[in-house]
Amino acid sequence: MLKLGIIGTNWITEQFVEAALATGNYQLTTVYSRSQAKAQTFADKFQVTETFTDLDRFFAAGQFEVVYIASPNSLHFEHAKLAIAADKHVIVEKPAFSNPSEMANITALLSNKPNLFLFEAARHAHEPNFKAVQKAVGQLDRLQGAVLTYMKYSSRYDQVLAGKEPNVFSPRFSGGALQDLGVYVVYDAVAWFGVPEAMHYYASLLPTGVDGKGTAILRYTDFDVTLIIGKNATSNLPSEIYGLHETLELGDNAADLQTVNLQRGTETKLLSTPPAANPMIHEAEDFHRMITENDRTAATENMQLSQQVNQVLYDLRRSAGIVFAADIEEQKNNGQ
Ligand SMILES: NC(=O)c1ccc[n+]([C@@H]2O[C@H](COP(=O)([O-])OP(=O)(O)OC[C@H]3O[C@@H](n4cnc5c(N)ncnc54)[C@H](OP(=O)(O)O)[C@@H]3O)[C@@H](O)[C@H]2O)c1
Repeated sequence: MLKLGIIGTNWITEQFVEAALATGNYQLTTVYSRSQAKAQTFADKFQVTETFTDLDRFFAAGQFEVVYIASPNSLHFEHAKLAIAADKHVIVEKPAFSNPSEMANITALLSNKPNLFLFEAARHAHEPNFKAVQKAVGQLDRLQGAVLTYMKYSSRYDQVLAGKEPNVFSPRFSGGALQDLGVYVVYDAVAWFGVPEAMHYYASLLPTGVDGKGTAILRYTDFDVTLIIGKNATSNLPSEIYGLHETLELGDNAADLQTVNLQRGTETKLLSTPPAANPMIHEAEDFHRMITENDRTAATENMQLSQQVNQVLYDLRRSAGIVFAADIEEQKNNGQ
């Protein structure tokens, strides 16, 4: 049983805690929030007695072994650093870190703490349908390209229309469509096809300075992959992966992967299974297994994929001229 502490009290933390508890392998022991009232409400929901509003005390005195970090993107770095210093395993929400410099910094800290595990919570990469697509891609006669879509209107875009800057659309918090829903399709592309040779992101920028939506082209040796992402419009287009004589059709979107079909001529074969009611259950199971079995091989594979995704997100973002406060901080630290 892994003792779990949490940072961030939004709905996604509740969903992860419910998934973790449903595995039977975690016990929620400790809640951090900036507000005691919010910490207490969350703690009461799960019959937890240990709450903190001071981060240093949370890490110094909290009776947990693994922390789930679901703070705004730009804060993941500081929170993960504190966790590593306090000898806690880390499950950090996607996107794990804002740029490759932060990622390298964390990797260096982890190399001095060989007993610790750090995972990026890219939940769909742990789901059976994601793995079914990965296997099917490996069996295609010849890969000819793909179009992967994840575009969903966010209610928080209403605030942007009202002249505000919610975290998810703010460069101060490493926000934007690419950094939010885009993470899923970049994971898809890197896990299924590898790291692209070249890439460009054609972004529609918002007054806040980040992207509301955009199209990315990833170039591979023999084919291109198009990513269509957005948070200020909704797409119902299925995604497709092309072989020579076969097409994989990913219904719904390229992150939820509700249905996956293999089409060949007039024949269609269903490759997917119905997703779990709580899609975070598979990652919760995987993280628990890797920690308790000390499976360094699988953890390193996970980390390598996170690093590749982090670099691709950064290169795409830079190609569109999107700069985060975290990048400016990074340049200052590097004396540029
Ligand atoms: N895997 C998934 O399916 C999924 C889905 C949604 C989100 N996410 C990820 O989860 C993370 C959180 O997303 P979110 O939309 O919940 O973010 P959010 O609402 O902006 O913030 C999350 C939590 O962080 C704390 N917080 C908010 N603003 C803060 C600030 N200025 N300074 C310090 N703490 C602050 C709040 O907790 P307190 O008020 O209690 O301190 C809040 O509940 C992101 O990395 C996002 O990408 C993942």
